[in-house]
Amino acid sequence: MTEQDYAFVVKLLQERTAIVLDPGKEYLVESRLTPVALQHGLATATEFIQKLRSPGGSACIPDLIEAMVTTETSFFRDVHPFETLRKTVLPELIRTRLPNRELNIWCGASASGQEPYTIAILIREHFPELLGWTVNILATDISTEMLKRSQEARYTQLEVGRGLTIALLTKYFRQDGFHWVLRDEIRNMVRFQQIHLEQSWPQMPMWDIILIRNVMIYFDIETKKAILRRVAKVLRPDGLLILGGAETTLNLDSAYQRVDHLKSGFYRLGDKS
Ligand SMILES: C[S@@+](CC[C@H](N)C(=O)[O-])C[C@H]1O[C@@H](n2cnc3c(N)ncnc32)[C@H](O)[C@@H]1O
Repeated sequence: MTEQDYAFVVKLLQERTAIVLDPGKEYLVESRLTPVALQHGLATATEFIQKLRSPGGSACIPDLIEAMVTTETSFFRDVHPFETLRKTVLPELIRTRLPNRELNIWCGASASGQEPYTIAILIREHFPELLGWTVNILATDISTEMLKRSQEARYTQLEVGRGLTIALLTKYFRQDGFHWVLRDEIRNMVRFQQIHLEQSWPQMPMWDIILIRNVMIYFDIETKKAILRRVAKVLRPDGLLILGGAETTLNLDSAYQRVDHLKSGFYRLGDKS
């Protein structure tokens, strides 16, 4: 692909998703766009980019976005954040939210659903007292394809093998051929919606827990700062933000304080006084 082709993809991707592709990632574009080109009846990634650049090419932008987002995820990814939720965060929130009996949890880049479903499973498994509560779990992503997959809640053996114990698998999923389908009791606990993190957000409740994990690493500093500023407006004063292991608010937004817990950590809004 030419330098101009690459520059075109980089600019378009940043405009539409906030994802920044560093120089020298032509191989990534090539490998992700080649299958898309074939689906369009074209032979190479370069031909697909030519199509994107031609009049009417904007109709292909959704396919570009779907191909270029990194959707790596797993159940109980990194383990420790979920241990923190189970051992400390949820018991504390259950005490403080007892008068209203309501919990609001937002997963801001939920990929194929393993992260929000992990939370739903964790709640069902360890906090039976929440059965009579209103527990809102909203899972959002930019990818139409990922949201569709999440709603189907149908996973391969490989996917369920990453993070789920046999006990949780057999309790909360039923086998369907080579796939495992999440039981409605868990599936119905999560609502899905398309939200672009870098664009304006719809009307939202105030959240007790926000997870925006393993997505901000793809954004530039100004986008990260803007998202953290907006998170602060929709996070309850005693709520918490959980980021990915390689992500931080440090040097981006001084409104947050890190709380280290077990082998992970989360962020609270600091005292404004
Ligand atoms: C690597 S996955 C992380 C999934 C999950 N949070 C985890 O940690 O396992 C990143 C997800 O972010 C989504 N994404 C990328 N850019 C986005 C944006 N601008 N707004 C919302 N979601 C975005 C991708 O579609 C993808 O599903």
